[in-house]
Amino acid sequence: SQRKQIDETLAPFKLSRQHLQDVKDNMRVELERGLKKDTHHSASVKMLPSYVYGTPDGTERGKFLALDLGGTNFRVLLVKIYSGLRKSIRMYNKIYAIPLEIMQGTGEELFDHIVQCISDFLDYMGMKNARLPLGFTFSFPCRQAGIDKGSLVSWTKGFKATDCEGQDVVDMLREAMKRRNEFDLDIVAMVNDAVGTMMTCAYEDPNCEIGLIAGTGSNVCYMEEMRNIETVEGEEGRMCVNTEWGGFGDNDCIEFIRTKFDREVDEGSLNQGKQRYEKMTSGMYLGEIVRQILIDLTKRGLLFRGQISERLRTRGIFETKFLSQIESDRLALLQVRGILQQLGLDSTCDDSIIVKEVCGVVSRRAAQICGAGMAAIADKIRENRGLEQLDITVGVDGTLYKLHPHFSKVLKETVKDLAPQCDVTFVLSEDGSGKGAALITAVAQRLYSHT
Ligand code: BG6
Ligand code: GLC
Repeated sequence: SQRKQIDETLAPFKLSRQHLQDVKDNMRVELERGLKKDTHHSASVKMLPSYVYGTPDGTERGKFLALDLGGTNFRVLLVKIYSGLRKSIRMYNKIYAIPLEIMQGTGEELFDHIVQCISDFLDYMGMKNARLPLGFTFSFPCRQAGIDKGSLVSWTKGFKATDCEGQDVVDMLREAMKRRNEFDLDIVAMVNDAVGTMMTCAYEDPNCEIGLIAGTGSNVCYMEEMRNIETVEGEEGRMCVNTEWGGFGDNDCIEFIRTKFDREVDEGSLNQGKQRYEKMTSGMYLGEIVRQILIDLTKRGLLFRGQISERLRTRGIFETKFLSQIESDRLALLQVRGILQQLGLDSTCDDSIIVKEVCGVVSRRAAQICGAGMAAIADKIRENRGLEQLDITVGVDGTLYKLHPHFSKVLKETVKDLAPQCDVTFVLSEDGSGKGAALITAVAQRLYSHT
């Protein structure tokens, strides 16, 4: 029967507790491998050092420019940080578009475009002549050798500009500023968005020592003991590690939960075989998994009267905001049909029930395996510190976490279940990672000016 066939199709998405436990355990193995000198090259979780040695202490101050590239929006920001009794932060920002042909054009074009946007922003703020310190949130994996240098390991998500991989991102930005020769800025720090998000939240809550992004992409950073980071000199204190956990499974260690739909999504992506965990847990790909399932069900005559429309064949139609709407319990089925209609998909009432169910299993699995990963991180930190019980805050950002009606709840339940010795509080970052980048810039600049 129709019901049976649909159930069978969706069954591989319904993970048992043992599956999730295995995801957690494998994540733990990869975290350790990424930190060790002799295994980090082959680890699927890169564990990149951030050169951020601590969270903010409230003494940060000054006026900074920040760039925020790699999420849904590209922003340029002016951030003013006050310390002492006036401890507070003010921000002014403007969002700019990055056209697809720039995301996937040449590196020079991309960085020229970024500099063009900075120029527009400085004009807009009337600040062309100020030589401000700049913090650059760059939401891609970078192998850093200091707070102000780092080479792009590989593009992820929707970016694929040429001649950037293996290059120093700060140098590319500096050179683009030279080419334009219109203003001068001091690039002080480059920061991953997970790190920026952790710092933004830690400014209010010193217990925040983990940053989570559940947005276009998926990533986590956390405060690791220096003695455990074998790829960096020094034994004392802690450093924030950008895990780049999106690549988890690129060595086949999560094949046991991947479905044929996950493989199809991978095949249609810009980076085949890479970021396998990210492709099961983040906004850029969840809609694609849904679309692959819908195509399959339609081909088998179980949906849309067996007619595969041109729309259904179109990549990227199910953005996070649509998935979130479809799964909202406040919406009546008629409204779900309305959303599908907006997407150009003609549905019957039965169709809309099935579509909603498909979205549900895909997003639930995403939240569960994200939670399993988080449980591994929390337990690792707890063991680092030799604690029976750990109390910790995670700073979170990203459209999936913010917009989806159930993602955060399932994520929290899973962490609670798989890491019972950790009391994990999730705090949403309201200000994006630009604020955190400015805080990091403030610290870096203070350290520099002493030497
Ligand atoms: C915000 C950042 O913190 O969250 C972005 O300022 C970041 O740059 C983002 O990448 C993640 O969200 P999304 O959903 O826009 O990818
Ligand atoms: C991708 C990037 C990573 C970033 C994440 C969230 O996984 O590789 O650096 O943090 O997306 O934006």
